[in-house]
Amino acid sequence: MGRDVIIACDFPGGEQTLAFLDRFQGRKPFVKIGMELFYAEGPEIVRQIKARGHQIFLDLKLHDIPNTVKKAMAVLSRLDVDICNLHAAGTAEMMRAALEGLTRPDGTRPLLIAVTQLTSTNQEALEQELLIPRPIDEVVMAYAENARRAGLDGVVCSPLEAEKVHSRCGRDFLTVTPGVRFADGDRGDQKRVMTPAQAKAVGSDYIVVGRPITASSDPVAAYERCLAEFIG
Ligand code: C5P
Repeated sequence: MGRDVIIACDFPGGEQTLAFLDRFQGRKPFVKIGMELFYAEGPEIVRQIKARGHQIFLDLKLHDIPNTVKKAMAVLSRLDVDICNLHAAGTAEMMRAALEGLTRPDGTRPLLIAVTQLTSTNQEALEQELLIPRPIDEVVMAYAENARRAGLDGVVCSPLEAEKVHSRCGRDFLTVTPGVRFADGDRGDQKRVMTPAQAKAVGSDYIVVGRPITASSDPVAAYERCLAEFIG
């Protein structure tokens, strides 16, 4: 796997998701399935999308005791997804257990990436509620390094953090970056954004793009524009 555009399929149900993917005809974009769709439709929607030939990033952000995460990850690896994730806040022990659970009997496994701090968490919440009295970007980088030391493959981060993550954790440590918008597009609720071309320039490995594609009047053209800017 290399650099790619992942479409965030943030639809409430399977019917809308499959109808959306039908529009791509022969193309098989890499898709992200999140909690909303997974909890609505269960693992069957993952099997259906996989059977259609798509690669899947299953964005369920696991965070529990190591044994529970290990067993849950074993179930997800049997779904044959390509990327899974968890919260680095679950500790290195939890991350190592997750890797063990994900590894199939033949030694293969999906990629495993970590959420460091959610972008919805600000400095004030970090200090006042989570009782972490450090600058948030320092916490993000420290959690990324914990994930790398635990053997994970990368992190979900803002494209604005991609260069720093690579310089701290190595070029091979993957940066999967949401918060991508076209230069002439609507930002929606995303505040700190980059265009696909800028994300390429800072070394993002995968961009996760939702509404600029899903809410477009021509999603296939929007997807192709993303690919052209990010990969071409
Ligand atoms: O529609 P949009 O392009 O903003 O979608 C981005 C996707 O990436 C959504 O599924 C969102 O939940 C996810 N995401 C994000 N920011 C993060 C982590 C995940 O936007 N820090």
